Amino acid sequence: MTSATTPPLLEVEDLSVVFPARRGGAPVAAIDGVSFDIAPGQTLGLVGQSGSGKTTTGRAVLRLQAIHRGSVKLLGRDLTRMSRSELRGMRRHMQFVLQNPYSSLHPRMTIAQILAEPLRVHKSAPENRTRERVEELLTLVNMDPATMHRYPNAFSGGQRQRIAIARALAVNPDFVVCDEPVSALDVQTQAQIVALLQSLQEKLGVSYLFIAHDLAIVREVAHKVAVMFRGRIIEMGAAGQVYDAPAHPYTQMLLDAVPVPDPALQRERLRRAQPERHFPDDETARGPCAFGEDHALSGTSRWHRVTAEHGVSCRFWPENSPLPAHDRAMET
Ligand SMILES: Nc1ncnc2c1ncn2[C@@H]1O[C@H](COP(=O)(O)OP(=O)(O)OP(=O)(O)O)[C@@H](O)[C@H]1O
Ligand SMILES: [Mg+2]
Repeated sequence: MTSATTPPLLEVEDLSVVFPARRGGAPVAAIDGVSFDIAPGQTLGLVGQSGSGKTTTGRAVLRLQAIHRGSVKLLGRDLTRMSRSELRGMRRHMQFVLQNPYSSLHPRMTIAQILAEPLRVHKSAPENRTRERVEELLTLVNMDPATMHRYPNAFSGGQRQRIAIARALAVNPDFVVCDEPVSALDVQTQAQIVALLQSLQEKLGVSYLFIAHDLAIVREVAHKVAVMFRGRIIEMGAAGQVYDAPAHPYTQMLLDAVPVPDPALQRERLRRAQPERHFPDDETARGPCAFGEDHALSGTSRWHRVTAEHGVSCRFWPENSPLPAHDRAMET
């Protein structure tokens, strides 16, 4: 456990990403007002249905996606106020592992070349030590170093994901975004990769933003969980608390919907449940909210603390909610 005096490794504040308008409509915020912290050596699980903004959040945090507003601090340094060259220097602290191990490894590079590339780019191992480091990395992810001269097509999905993990860890990052890292794998392989990510965290003290639509896996790996809905975090807290006592109807539905392997069925269940009856989608709604507070009168935040380590929004956003007027003006 980190103490209150340990500063977070990653601090994300009020992050928004806006994609340009389609067919003459207003620009839509893919994510809006997203804030969270990740402590050193810990995992934040980010869950939510397809299109809720999880990947956009991960890319924006890594500064691979232009942001509209907000700040991202890694190791106390604001990535949103850096020059390109400063940001390049920060890249060795933050890496990513993506969902598809078939498209993420270059088919015409050997494993040795794939793992040597980040070492060269970030000058993190002298040339005469590269081979040694590649062997070390393969051992770290439980692969035989003798396989380093093979090409990705010689490996299974699970082995490829081990290689992708080794590549992410090559430069000793402090933080890795894992975007659906096991979704493309069979169940048995999923368990092995999850166990590997966990043991690497214990060994290396790396922090993860672990993005997944599979809530069971997130429960296993995450210290904290954030639930995303239509581009906003609607509930966040210690994993045990959010799973055992979900406070937002959307979180309850997501949990009820497990296991629903069929996204269409999950969407249908969510549509039927109409949580906006109790969690209004209008910011100016009058009368007591689900937690008994009349925000129209008090002007207080709609983010409620359930416990010291668990918060929830009393709102439910309408589909394709437009940007606030002042943001729209900034966009044009
Ligand atoms: N390049 C883009 N241009 C326009 N809209 C985009 C772009 N990328 C994402 N979006 C939109 O932003 C929203 C969030 O998408 P995102 O990919 O972040 O969701 P996700 O939670 O990762 O979904 P999934 O579980 O399917 O991976 C979606 O409405 C999507 O259509
Ligand atoms: Mg995604």
